[in-house]
This record gives sequence, structure tokens and C-alpha cells, in this order.
Amino acid sequence: MDLTLVLSLLFLSCFHGVSSDSRYFTSLFTLGDSYIDVGNFVIMAARAVPAVPVWHDKLPYGMTFFGHPTGRLSDGRVIVDFIAEQFGLPLLQASLLNSSDVSKGANFAVGGATAIDVDFYERNNLVQFKLLNNSLSVQLGWLEELKPSFCNATKGCRGCFSKALFFVGEFGVNDYNFLWSAGKTEEEVMSYVPKIVEHIVRPWRGLSTKVQYMWLCQGIHQTGARQPF
Ligand SMILES: *[C@@H]1O[C@H](CO)[C@@H](O)[C@H](O)[C@H]1NC(C)=O
Ligand SMILES: *[C@@H]1O[C@H](CO)[C@@H](O)[C@H](O)[C@H]1NC(C)=O
Ligand SMILES: *[C@@H]1O[C@H](CO)[C@@H](O)[C@H](O)[C@H]1NC(C)=O
Repeated sequence: MDLTLVLSLLFLSCFHGVSSDSRYFTSLFTLGDSYIDVGNFVIMAARAVPAVPVWHDKLPYGMTFFGHPTGRLSDGRVIVDFIAEQFGLPLLQASLLNSSDVSKGANFAVGGATAIDVDFYERNNLVQFKLLNNSLSVQLGWLEELKPSFCNATKGCRGCFSKALFFVGEFGVNDYNFLWSAGKTEEEVMSYVPKIVEHIVRPWRGLSTKVQYMWLCQGIHQTGARQPF
């Protein structure tokens, strides 16, 4: 499996150096959180018992581009939509919609997704509510499940990801949010940084196949003056 992986994004213009030729990338797979979720949170929230309240399934979400809510936490497109457009690919669907055509890729991102698995936060009483099971490793599991259909669609598994672009991230912001919201001090939150980074990096280490990485540092938004929710 050859794949090209982008971990987080600075500016779309970075891709000008790569190629906006759709023959270069013929599919796009994205993993992440609410920055790039295109509907998975809404689907998971509705399935959860008890159902998780959702606010972005109503206008004004979606009003500036789609004209209706799509499950994106945005009034228009999210960054991976612009990347898809740049490469002449269709806007990706939420993976949990189980589209029958995954030949151009899928978007596995879910709002609220964490780098560390959610049971860590629940087990350690860092959150007082049930989390959606949406961490990076869970999303990677969905990718594994989808692989046979994708490779089938692209005729034979050998090198079937060779023209696929993987966009991973951002991950981490929700991990830090849960820690801050649990009343951890700055020093305590800092002590989790290596663990969180390790969870983001570990899945990509030791892949037996050739991988081209592009590391683009996006950083995470300022949370300093934020009120705990
Ligand atoms: C997608 O497939 C999964 C597993 O087969 C199933 O549980 C789920 O209900 C399906 N989702 C939709 C939206 O059809
Ligand atoms: C989340 O999903 C994974 C994969 O399906 C499963 O192994 C894990 O037990 C689940 N975790 C929770 C907290 O439900
Ligand atoms: C692979 O393609 C064949 C023929 O189109 C189809 O019958 C089969 O169900 C597909 N397998 C998977 C795993 O999608």
C-alpha cells in the first residue's frame, strides 16, 4: 500500500507545489474532527443511546454554499472540500453514510474526535458524559473495513492506494479540551502532550509499505481564555 499522508494543513496554497493535476491523486481519504467532519457526528449522535443533542443539523449551518445543513460545522465548505476541488475530485461523503461508491475516497472525520481512545477519558473520570466512540484508532478501523471495497473498485489491491491522498487531522484539540474542562492545571495538561502526540504519530510508524509524508503544521486554536463547557 503506497500512500501519501498529510498531517494537518497550513494553507491550501501549500498544495500548489504538489500538483493540482487530478491524475496525481485519484482519491482522497480524510480522518479528523469537527474541522473537517462532513456529517459523521450527526449520524453517530442520532444512533447514540441516549441520543446526543446536535445543533449543526439546522440552518444557518450550510447556508452559504450548500443552502442546507450538511453536517459540516461550517456555514459552507470545510478545508478538505477545497482540497478535493483542487484535485478535481468530488466532495467527499461522510463514511458512515456507507456510500456504495468509494472509488474517490471517503471522509471518516467525526466532530469531537480524540487522539487518545475515548475509554481513557471515561475510565479516568475526565468527562462526566458518554463520549461518541470516534477516536483516530476507531476511524482507522473504519478505513480498514472500507479497504476491500475501495481496492475492488480500483481493481486489485496491489498499490490501490498509490494515488490516494490521506489527510489526517487536526487531532488533539478535543483531548486538550477534555483535560482543561476536567480542571487540570497547565502543568498537568502539559504532561499529557507526549501521550497525545504519540497517539497521533504511532499508527503511521512502521507501515511496511512506502509512504510519502507531507507534514504541514496547522497548530490548534487558542483555548487560553476559554470557559469550560
Ligand atoms: C452502515 O453500515 C453499518 C454496518 O453495516 C450499519 O450498522 C449502519 O446502520 C449503516 N449506516 C447507514 C446510514 O445505513
Ligand atoms: C470503540 O470502537 C472500537 C472499535 O469498534 C472498540 O474496540 C472499542 O471497544 C469501542 N470503545 C468504546 C468505549 O465503546
Ligand atoms: C468486488 O467486485 C465484485 C464485482 O463488481 C462484486 O461482486 C463484489 O461484491 C465486490 N467485493 C467487495 C468487497 O466490494
